Amino acid sequence: MRKKIVAGNWKMNLDLNEGAELVNDIFKGLPVLSEHKQVVIAPPYLHLTQTAAQLTGMIDVQLGAQNCYSESAGAFTGEVSAAMLKSAEVAFVIIGHSERREYFREDSAMLAKKVNQVLINDMKVIFCCGEPLEIRDAGTQNTYVETQINEGIFHLGEAQLQNVVIAYEPIWAIGTGRTATSAQAQDMHAHIRGVIAAKYGKDVAENMTILYGGSCKPSNAAELFACADVDGGLIGGASLKASEFLGIIEAMADL
Ligand code: 13P
Repeated sequence: MRKKIVAGNWKMNLDLNEGAELVNDIFKGLPVLSEHKQVVIAPPYLHLTQTAAQLTGMIDVQLGAQNCYSESAGAFTGEVSAAMLKSAEVAFVIIGHSERREYFREDSAMLAKKVNQVLINDMKVIFCCGEPLEIRDAGTQNTYVETQINEGIFHLGEAQLQNVVIAYEPIWAIGTGRTATSAQAQDMHAHIRGVIAAKYGKDVAENMTILYGGSCKPSNAAELFACADVDGGLIGGASLKASEFLGIIEAMADL
């Protein structure tokens, strides 16, 4: 049975005190989750050791990072390696977020190297893909996303792919309040699963967790998560408020 995940991507928000408070508030309201359901919290790098200490002993809630560097070590001022993240008890690393692709010019070749770094260091990848509005308007989103997946993760073997989660985040839905309809999300998720099946076979595709991201909130999470190929969400803005993040976690818990 494939895992359902709700992951919170805090992006560049919250200082250390605010972060600690948010994690405490999430703990207070956290529902009991069944075996195949999991929460991931991905704060900024600076928070990781603090958040890791707060998560000690938790099985349902795991630590995520929002990025890592593409090389293993060396003279790369300001960067953080995957091995460092592993030593801070990070379990998941988000790679290929559209904000990294756009603002930091991360191309597919670099993202493929980052994916490798995460996997070499025994963590899981949350690999993001998703089209801009002009591609959606042109109706070519399926091939666009397929290319991103092909270039970012198709160099992996079947065993490595089992440590990859895909997050479909249409750029036009991120932070805009304009969520993809459940039909749009389901169509793309089914397409992505088909792309995985064509390369790795049906069993691998059926076991792959595919998250939706983009203006996901308590009021639309249940409908999105009810889609056959939507296995949870990667949450931005709504992960910064305990009540909203818990509302989305509840939607997963109720499935
Ligand atoms: P929002 O939930 O704020 O739209 O952000 C989604 C996202 O980019 C998560 O990675």
